[in-house]
Amino acid sequence: MKNIVVYYSWTNNTGVVAREIHDMVGGDLKEIEEVKQRTGGMGFAGGAFSALLGLKSKIKPMDFSMSDYENIFLGGQVWASHSTPAINAFLDKADLRDKKVYLFLTKADDKVPQKVIDSISQRVERKGGKVIDTLSITTSMKSVISPEAARKPAEDWLRKNSISVDSYGNSSDI
Ligand SMILES: Cc1cc2nc3c(=O)[nH]c(=O)nc-3n(C[C@H](O)[C@H](O)[C@H](O)COP(=O)(O)O)c2cc1C
Repeated sequence: MKNIVVYYSWTNNTGVVAREIHDMVGGDLKEIEEVKQRTGGMGFAGGAFSALLGLKSKIKPMDFSMSDYENIFLGGQVWASHSTPAINAFLDKADLRDKKVYLFLTKADDKVPQKVIDSISQRVERKGGKVIDTLSITTSMKSVISPEAARKPAEDWLRKNSISVDSYGNSSDI
């Protein structure tokens, strides 16, 4: 019954949400990291363009095996109305056979990013997993979401899915 929270975050919003979820569900926390750092305006334009084209970026090797986990809490974000190159790369590599995937996305727009949810859900299914439920959280492009602001929607979402939010005894960090 082990949990893993695995996420990509360029500007740290998804990272904040991921850490709050991990704090509640326990298990392991892993960041998907790109080999090449994105910086500034060029990083923004290049990221948006790559996302729009559905490209995959080079990500650092992930030092864990999905077979050790039952529940995957996968965190990503919306770029140019698409999933990000790092998430595309992760989904391309990941073996998600029989995994329950709980998808959480951050985005600046108020709308639910249904197109992105559907596209990620389809790829998860192609890898043998199933997206059980999705949480999308609206962030601001001006400042990073606070842990307090992330906590409440994340906790409500976990409770709605009957997931224990008391990580004691569940976490390998303790
Ligand atoms: C290159 C780029 C493109 C973006 N495009 C969109 C978009 O199309 N729709 C949207 O709602 N938010 C968009 N955003 C906002 C991000 O989804 C939002 O800031 C998100 O929380 C970033 O996640 P992170 O901080 O974990 O990297 C974009 C952000 C970046 C950097």
